[in-house]
Amino acid sequence: VTAEKAGFDHFMLKEIHEQPKAYRDTMGARLDESGKKVALSEVGMTPEQIRAIRQVHIVACGTAYHAGLVGKSVIEKLARIPVETDVASEYRYRAPIITPETLVIVVSQSGETADTLAALREAKRCGARVLAITNVVGSSVAREADDVIVTWAGPEIAVASTKAYTSQLIAFYLLGLYLAQTLGTVDEAYIAEVVAGLQELPEKVESILAQADTIKAIAEQVSTHDNLFFIGRGLDYAVALEGSLKLKEISYIHSEAYAAGELKHGTLALIEEGIPVIALATQDDLFEKTVSNIKEVKARGAHVFGIHAEGDAELAKVVDHTFAIPATLPLLTPALSVVPLQLLAYYASLARGNDVDKPRNLAKSVTVE
Ligand code: G6P
Repeated sequence: VTAEKAGFDHFMLKEIHEQPKAYRDTMGARLDESGKKVALSEVGMTPEQIRAIRQVHIVACGTAYHAGLVGKSVIEKLARIPVETDVASEYRYRAPIITPETLVIVVSQSGETADTLAALREAKRCGARVLAITNVVGSSVAREADDVIVTWAGPEIAVASTKAYTSQLIAFYLLGLYLAQTLGTVDEAYIAEVVAGLQELPEKVESILAQADTIKAIAEQVSTHDNLFFIGRGLDYAVALEGSLKLKEISYIHSEAYAAGELKHGTLALIEEGIPVIALATQDDLFEKTVSNIKEVKARGAHVFGIHAEGDAELAKVVDHTFAIPATLPLLTPALSVVPLQLLAYYASLARGNDVDKPRNLAKSVTVE
């Protein structure tokens, strides 16, 4: 068993450390020789079919749903197509408007989640094209979809998903770029910039992993609390949701992720002396606004742990602890900022003496609706 874990204490920690490889393998040959374009031969849509897409629906459960929230921003920004992201167990029952001009993207690590599979079937029944992002070649979702982008994360054993989530993010970046190339919605120079940014991610993740001890110390403090908040705006909010889920799943500490600007509309009432708040502030254009939200919680006694991009010295002046992720394009930060949150959840769970890889009540793959 120790051999399977390659010297790590838990599968989750091993899988967190496998992310640089998972990023490289998922990008692999999909970044063409020139290094400036994306080649997605597994996507069989013709340029005409891509131009005919009027809307995208992303449907998934759990962590894969959170990847879909990032996917929405990525596709809207790069391909300028309206995107909605839904939890699979809600999708079918809200009478979604699915037409042959809808591209439905289902995201599933296992490819066997019952609700996601049911959503896929409903989408096909309505004549939509279905593209699957999955980690399991030959899974039910992979077999039934029209197009399949496989994430090459390798087998994920820990119940709490880490490398599958980040590989799903990479798949969304590749797909967004591919659609944008076909549609001509962003200029070639920007596409080349995003491609270059993607290629630098694995090394940047390695540099975050090298600082795991810093996160461990914060996690040990967090583990003594029963309640906390994650806040962020834009893509940082999507990552906050995933960070909060990760912590809840394995540490059993209650947390809530909030769009930072929404706090004052209710939840600010719950901020009291000493409550930990994990604040993500990696988006340049939202930075000032996020800082003012951080000041709102600080003023009520919160103990704030801020995550920001390297090179920014401002955040340290307003929060109690900071962690810098390496600088990258604002669009790509989720693939870096989630890593310290995965480590935070891992070490908090460890500090509480929980079974990190097999949290109570949860299953790796849920094949009942
Ligand atoms: C279960 C797992 C989650 C996962 C979700 C969706 O609830 O515990 O980690 O995100 O299912 O799984 P899928 O295989 O469809 O990505």
